[in-house]
Amino acid sequence: MIEKTVSEAINFRRSVRVYDIEKPIDTERVKKCIEQATLAPTSSNLQLWEFYHVHTKHLLKEVAQVCYNQPAAKTAQELVIPVVRLDLWQQRIAANVDFIKSANVGKDENKIKGALEYYQKIIPQLYRGTQKIKGFVHSLKSNWNGRKKVTYREVKASDLRVVGHKSTALAAQNFMVSMAAIGYDTCPMEGFDSVRLKALLKLPKSAEVSMVIGCGIRKPEGVYGKRFRVPFEEVYFKV
Ligand SMILES: Cc1cc2nc3c(=O)[nH]c(=O)nc-3n(C[C@H](O)[C@H](O)[C@H](O)COP(=O)(O)O)c2cc1C
Repeated sequence: MIEKTVSEAINFRRSVRVYDIEKPIDTERVKKCIEQATLAPTSSNLQLWEFYHVHTKHLLKEVAQVCYNQPAAKTAQELVIPVVRLDLWQQRIAANVDFIKSANVGKDENKIKGALEYYQKIIPQLYRGTQKIKGFVHSLKSNWNGRKKVTYREVKASDLRVVGHKSTALAAQNFMVSMAAIGYDTCPMEGFDSVRLKALLKLPKSAEVSMVIGCGIRKPEGVYGKRFRVPFEEVYFKV
């Protein structure tokens, strides 16, 4: 089957709330789209995300329940749940450092010095801010320094949560566009009980669910009306 172009896939994608149970989707193809999700750009390439692919009837039913049984969850053939894992920052730094070293074996060490310093000094200092007090102190310092020079300000624990969610949401969009490219439908949902959902997925307390994505093949009535966007001129500023 020929895949859609990026523009075709973006236009095909709608939030589909009712899926056709007569038209199954292929779990392996959905998994492939999750792999494409992981090719999304991510802040400092830390990849502080995980993807839970719910495919068994039993778990689908349980997850739908904690999504208030909203139609996009209840009728979904499968559910994909991107999760933010800020707590994995040390492991991800180590993975980046290993990669940089192995990709540069035999090369001039000075060439990778900057990259190593970034992952071994700057990024750890930033991510220690995921501990609330350290983040708060760091933000005081950064605002003080910012009086005189260009300074990165988003260093509090709450800022880092946004950083994690930004990158994970980009991966989610990669996933949905990849699904659209093969004619599979999706619906992102933030209407769920995060505490119950985390318990179902056996996630640690520090993990945060970005969204739950319903997957399947649309029923015509599953698209709730024409697409609405505010006029482009209201959101576009050529500066
Ligand atoms: C982060 C996020 C959360 C959403 N949560 C829900 C939801 O809980 N239930 C739902 O039916 N749709 C949800 N939506 C879908 C939006 O309502 C939908 O994207 C919007 O109305 C535009 O329609 P379109 O996606 O068909 O272009 C969500 C979308 C996003 C991006």
